Amino acid sequence: MREATTISVGGPAPYDVVVGSGVRHGLAPVLGGATTVAVVADPAVAAVADAVASSLQGAARRVVRLDLVSGEAVKSVAEAARLWDELGSMPLTRSDALVAVGGGATTDLVGFVAATWLRGVRVAHVPTTLLGMVDAAVGGKTGLNIAAGKNLVGAFHPPVSVAVDLDVLATLPPAEWVNGIPEVIKTGFIADPVILDLVEADPAAATRPDGAVARELIERTIRVKAKVVSEDLREAGLREILNYGHTLGHAIERRESYSWPHGHAVSVGLVFAAALARSAGRLDDSTASRHRRVLDALGLPTRYPADALPDLMEGMRVDKKARGDRLRFVVLDGLARPGVLEAPSLALLAEAYSEVAS
Ligand SMILES: NC(=O)c1ccc[n+]([C@@H]2O[C@H](COP(=O)([O-])OP(=O)(O)OC[C@H]3O[C@@H](n4cnc5c(N)ncnc54)[C@H](O)[C@@H]3O)[C@@H](O)[C@H]2O)c1
Repeated sequence: MREATTISVGGPAPYDVVVGSGVRHGLAPVLGGATTVAVVADPAVAAVADAVASSLQGAARRVVRLDLVSGEAVKSVAEAARLWDELGSMPLTRSDALVAVGGGATTDLVGFVAATWLRGVRVAHVPTTLLGMVDAAVGGKTGLNIAAGKNLVGAFHPPVSVAVDLDVLATLPPAEWVNGIPEVIKTGFIADPVILDLVEADPAAATRPDGAVARELIERTIRVKAKVVSEDLREAGLREILNYGHTLGHAIERRESYSWPHGHAVSVGLVFAAALARSAGRLDDSTASRHRRVLDALGLPTRYPADALPDLMEGMRVDKKARGDRLRFVVLDGLARPGVLEAPSLALLAEAYSEVAS
């Protein structure tokens, strides 16, 4: 069996992301000194969490297993409060730790509770979706949703370790794997074009967690995210490039009341961002058209209704990453050369939108 790969994340609180088969069993060394460890999971992966808990027996005097609710619904104040109450009744102390087992929703919520419980206790993540592995569990952003919007409440709280265990993907529904692919493609365009070469060589393999290129795609995407967040934990500069394709993507998600998968919205957003850079005279035709080609080959959507632009403009203006009401887009000045386009004219936006309009 291939050995595990360790990817280090730097910054104020460095940690390792370990990728491989069976690595969910290797968390004990990073949780040393804990009397109690609470392993908190999405019920869809309760069996994975049980196995993680068993492997921690011996590392702590007490290992407690808790399940929250499945998926996005977990990112609520009510679920956070329920977990705080559980931690209070244990009690979970400053030297203790949490382990989150689940997709990005679970790692976001458990990470947030870890950031706020006793003003910060250790958390380790065992992401179980592609999006969780390559994005949500790496980088230290945590969050929950409130009525006013998604991810409006949160904290930066880096984990002490991330165990990316490829075995847990065996139960992941194919649609959830595909939902994470646009983040991988995004990473190919902003930083690591080998990702694009791998996907183009065998698109069918890229759409499967058991495909020959899955591990390499995961590792390459994590390496880029690790490098970016090592330099910029708090989104003060470089981290903005990770937002490529997301400005329009978030507006589509909002317009669809979050019924569209995030990955589908980002897929359209990537094609739009490429068109915007081409219309602005910053990106060559062949790199721009490569966006649609590669996303089409993966079966991802690349078009959105023509009459939606006014709504989307409104949505983009209230995106929390807009500064004031000036629109800002991450664009490419060439392959793997991200830059920023600020306050584009309506004419430019409309021209670029016509490329994705259906
Ligand atoms: N913190 C960050 O930097 C960051 C970055 C990107 C996304 N996010 C957040 O991540 C969330 C989306 O993450 P997600 O796509 O992983 O969604 P998710 O956590 O909701 O999981 C998707 C679905 O897959 C199920 N599931 C998870 N793992 C499984 C497995 N191995 N087998 C079977 N079923 C499984 C879940 O129960 C759920 O129904 C959003 O809330 C988003 O805001 C955060």
